[in-house]
Amino acid sequence: MQNVIDNIYQQVKCQVHNGNVARYIPELAKIDPDKLGIALKTIDGVLYVAGDANESFSIQSISKVFATSLVFSVIGDDLWRRVGKEPSGSSFNSLVQLEYENGIPRNPLINAGAIVVADMMIDILANPEKDFLSFIRRLAGDQNIHFDEKVKNSEKDTGFRNVALANFMKSFGNIHNHVDDVLDIYFMMCSVSMSCTQLANAFLFFANHGMIPATHEKILTISQTKRLNALMQTCGFYDEAGEFTFRVGLPGKSGVGGGIVAILPKQYSVAVWSPGLNGKGNSESGMLLLELLTTKTGTSIF
Ligand code: DON
Repeated sequence: MQNVIDNIYQQVKCQVHNGNVARYIPELAKIDPDKLGIALKTIDGVLYVAGDANESFSIQSISKVFATSLVFSVIGDDLWRRVGKEPSGSSFNSLVQLEYENGIPRNPLINAGAIVVADMMIDILANPEKDFLSFIRRLAGDQNIHFDEKVKNSEKDTGFRNVALANFMKSFGNIHNHVDDVLDIYFMMCSVSMSCTQLANAFLFFANHGMIPATHEKILTISQTKRLNALMQTCGFYDEAGEFTFRVGLPGKSGVGGGIVAILPKQYSVAVWSPGLNGKGNSESGMLLLELLTTKTGTSIF
């Protein structure tokens, strides 16, 4: 496996300039576009890395999977009363479907859905900010995971679309708390910084029937794990979910910081990072790395 990781890393490193860093969040526009990292962790605990695998970056929408998992583990299927489970086929910050679907977002992995999940976090958690971070640290088995205040403030200053989404859903009664408080939690979620190694560790329970392999701690039931993996497969890449499935063949989730995490049930989780994004907001080189990984190892869920 280490040979495969080294080879695909070298191959992709030559073309890492493709894509553009996310400029609509000023703090992310400053990131070095040449960064490239990969970390793969097997459920029996072996870690393979290459490149900038241990450098922290903004996980952005990858946090939507953590937030959904946390809320799902607490309230179970009540989650689906206020958010759907269908792919949107639209961009991650789209407003259009919300109007004719009465303020119910298509799924929790698009911005609108994650804003509803943030609203739920305020209702069910004693201290959403602290509890969210503790949850991720527990999953990763690593206390050295933090929010990036600069990224959070940068989004707060410029997140006009998210403000519109939250207010629009509030008008349908699908946001219960004050819009500013909900957005504060949403931007906080997006501002978490993690490395590929930390992300691969944190996602390993999705490959292990909902149990953290290192600690045997049960986070989700087998059935809940199936459901979240299914959501990642169908909704994790917005209007590029089909393309990602076609090329990589694993459930996963991307973020505009250039990270992507994917899992192969009963085998491994893998995280990649390259800040250059394609037109749909997914890491150009990250997707290529994962496509080469599953192709060369002959592994996929299909
Ligand atoms: O709300 C936003 O637009 C960003 N904080 C997150 C977007 C994101 O990562 C979508 N990913 N591909």
